[in-house]
Amino acid sequence: MSKPFDAPGYNRDSSIVNPQGQAELTPGPQHGKAKPAPGGPFLIGEAMTGGYGKAGPAIIHECTIAVDRGEIGVIVGPNGAGKSTAMRALFGMLYLTGGTVRLDGEDITQLSPQARVAKGMGFVPQTHNIFTSLTVEENLEMGAFIRKDDISETMEQVYELFPILRDKRDQAAGELSGGQRQQVAVGRALMTKPKVLMLDEPTAGVSPIVMDELFDRIIEVAGTGLPVLMVEQNARQALEIADKGYVLVQGRNAHTGTGKDLLADPDVRKSFLGG
Ligand SMILES: Nc1ncnc2c1ncn2[C@@H]1O[C@H](COP(=O)(O)OP(=O)(O)OP(=O)(O)O)[C@@H](O)[C@H]1O
Ligand SMILES: [Mg+2]
Repeated sequence: MSKPFDAPGYNRDSSIVNPQGQAELTPGPQHGKAKPAPGGPFLIGEAMTGGYGKAGPAIIHECTIAVDRGEIGVIVGPNGAGKSTAMRALFGMLYLTGGTVRLDGEDITQLSPQARVAKGMGFVPQTHNIFTSLTVEENLEMGAFIRKDDISETMEQVYELFPILRDKRDQAAGELSGGQRQQVAVGRALMTKPKVLMLDEPTAGVSPIVMDELFDRIIEVAGTGLPVLMVEQNARQALEIADKGYVLVQGRNAHTGTGKDLLADPDVRKSFLGG
């Protein structure tokens, strides 16, 4: 069920996010509105062009995706539009022939995915995003592999965010329901204390009720000031919670605006939202 921001149990603890590079944390109805980074949005892939391998054709073309502190950015579009590819490009898994990726004003275009994790990017891929044979808790521990400090506090915060994971901490993650697995995947990414969280279809294959719950948790995370960028196939619901929305078509930005703008745009409604 939906939990309002002021309900008991709403996690106001902002320490789940990395304090470094954080603007003031002021959770509110518009998530955690904070000042944009001086050099532009906190995370931006600007005019990204590229594909898989040096010889492969370009899949995304001058594609621009950005998200700022305290915001939820949402990427929607038809199957095969290049949504996952754009996420991989931001995460350094693509060969870019054009464009730049900047994190907190720093050009990270040349960095490996591992180096981007160290810089504060948390990424949950669309598939194979948990270790099914490991327990829930082992999955969370694996998420924290780059950390050398005490991870128990972050794990506690993940369990507060997703209480069911605490109950199932000793179960193999592969035995969990789809929605619970997605919680493990998001929790695993949070264990690095990321400065930005990227989720590729976090609600894939879950029921509408579970989708609503996951969205509530994502809003809660964004409310701590942590920027969240996600790909969603539930376009309408996702755009309702989006500060920034991107419609991708054939690897290009087709429509960009606030979630509200896109929901009101007749073209977007007709082509992507079923009227
Ligand atoms: N690893 C890969 N190697 C080569 N081509 C790929 C690879 N992954 C995706 N593609 C191609 O890139 C294009 C965009 O795929 P992508 O997975 O980014 O789309 P998507 O918008 O995420 O789709 P979906 O809604 O189905 O998840 C498709 O033509 C796909 O065949
Ligand atoms: Mg995809």
